[in-house]
Amino acid sequence: MEVRVFKNAGEIGAAAGKIICDFVNSKPDCVLGFATGASPVPTYDYMINQFNEGKVSFKDVTTFNLDEYCGLPADHKNSYFTFMKENLFSKVDIQSKNINFLDGNADEEQESKRYAEAIKAKGGIDIQILGIGRNGHIAFNEPSDEFTDEAWKVTLSQSTIDANSIYFDDTEMPRSAMTMGIGSIMRSKKIILIATGNSKAQAVKDMIKGPVTPHCPASILQQHNDTVILLDEAAASLL
Ligand code: GLP
Repeated sequence: MEVRVFKNAGEIGAAAGKIICDFVNSKPDCVLGFATGASPVPTYDYMINQFNEGKVSFKDVTTFNLDEYCGLPADHKNSYFTFMKENLFSKVDIQSKNINFLDGNADEEQESKRYAEAIKAKGGIDIQILGIGRNGHIAFNEPSDEFTDEAWKVTLSQSTIDANSIYFDDTEMPRSAMTMGIGSIMRSKKIILIATGNSKAQAVKDMIKGPVTPHCPASILQQHNDTVILLDEAAASLL
């Protein structure tokens, strides 16, 4: 794992965005894995700016998102699909036919198989962006007794419900989600994990310095051979 510490979220976004844009320019038909949440938004902003300045095009890029809530239609204002549309997809030239999302309302087994096959058919994910939950979760893989492999349906923990319910005002936050499994994430060729703020400091410490254990799902990244962790000073404060 390579760990880099920055002054603020904007600098992290520029660093992660540059890695992605440089890669897209070297391989225009590459496969990118995207995450939702606040952490990757400055990265998406950087990508949008580069696109607006004519420095990069995403028209041949294929994308896979990490996760989606169960029980919400894809076009619901709080769905992760809507989040991606508002924060990136509608602002660059990614083609909708190249956007892949888990369907939180589909049959778990069939959906898991469909997503695994779709990723495989594209030759795997070249760069996967990740955030981290306060409890060390990645995507929606909550702390548990074992690492999962392909996509699965997860019951969300109270910590995640507490953290994410701020995004839900008049809708009750779903209690379950479909998420890429740990195995699918680990098969990405490169991983960029972004964490900012004090609330992530303990999870970041456990991920980097703790044992590799499914009780801190992000700790598995210690075993990935091309992972870069981008932190602000607050998130790095316990290292
Ligand atoms: C959600 C997402 C994760 C994300 C995490 C942290 O639970 N499923 O993919 O990493 O939140 O979100 P944030 O970046 O807003 O702190």
